[in-house]
Amino acid sequence: MSTAVLENNPSAPEVIPTFTATLIIRRFDPDVDDEPRWQDFDVEVYPTDRVLDALHKIKWEQDGSLTFRRSCAHGICGSDAMRINGKNRLACKTLIKDLDTTKPIYVEAIKGLPLEKDLIVDMEPFFESYRQIQPFLIASSNPEKERIQSVTQRERFDDTTKCILCAACTSSCPVFWTDGQYFGPAAIVNAHRFIFDSRDEDAKVRLDILNDKEGVWRCRTTFNCSEACPRGIEVTKAISEVKAAILRGKA
Ligand code: SF4
Ligand code: FES
Repeated sequence: MSTAVLENNPSAPEVIPTFTATLIIRRFDPDVDDEPRWQDFDVEVYPTDRVLDALHKIKWEQDGSLTFRRSCAHGICGSDAMRINGKNRLACKTLIKDLDTTKPIYVEAIKGLPLEKDLIVDMEPFFESYRQIQPFLIASSNPEKERIQSVTQRERFDDTTKCILCAACTSSCPVFWTDGQYFGPAAIVNAHRFIFDSRDEDAKVRLDILNDKEGVWRCRTTFNCSEACPRGIEVTKAISEVKAAILRGKA
């Protein structure tokens, strides 16, 4: 066991003990494996380490071939969504101490997207759905200054502006697992962000796109998406608001 001492309190230094955590990681190397396999790693961690820190330690100190995506390490870029103990989470926002440290920590790639290597999936089907809903402001007017919007109008879609496109929601959706053609929660969240933006003029087009057999009506309101979202977006609520807008015929 190693320790760390908080040096800003020399009279009564606080000692933070480390402990050995076991991570059981679902590995897959397409060059050598026919099927994914589970591999155990023991790693010395602080309780306040994140799962991403443990993965880094394994990669840097034990097995450099361990493959995963990460960039910002601070919950912003959305690149390190993975299944941790059976739940979709961002590895960089999941503290070891918040998991059951008496048991091994299971880590695997998110489901429903083609597995490429270890914890990496092919995100292209996910981004294809995102592109289809036209995730950009469409407005014909060309004002000389900014496009005015009231606080109330901005609040209407505030929640869905927070999406970081991590795919935790879409890849936790049982409908998406069984039918990869379904647009999925993240695409609908990003459609919502523009459908209810008072400055945008093409809500009707996006509502038509999502009023499809692979659109919002595939949602079975299981709430997996809302539970998975690391940004706390009320994903299921956003989907139900898009459904209601389709029935009304306008945002
Ligand atoms: S809605 Fe939440 S879970 Fe889904 S992609 Fe956006 S940030 Fe990730
Ligand atoms: S590494 Fe960027 S969100 Fe986790």
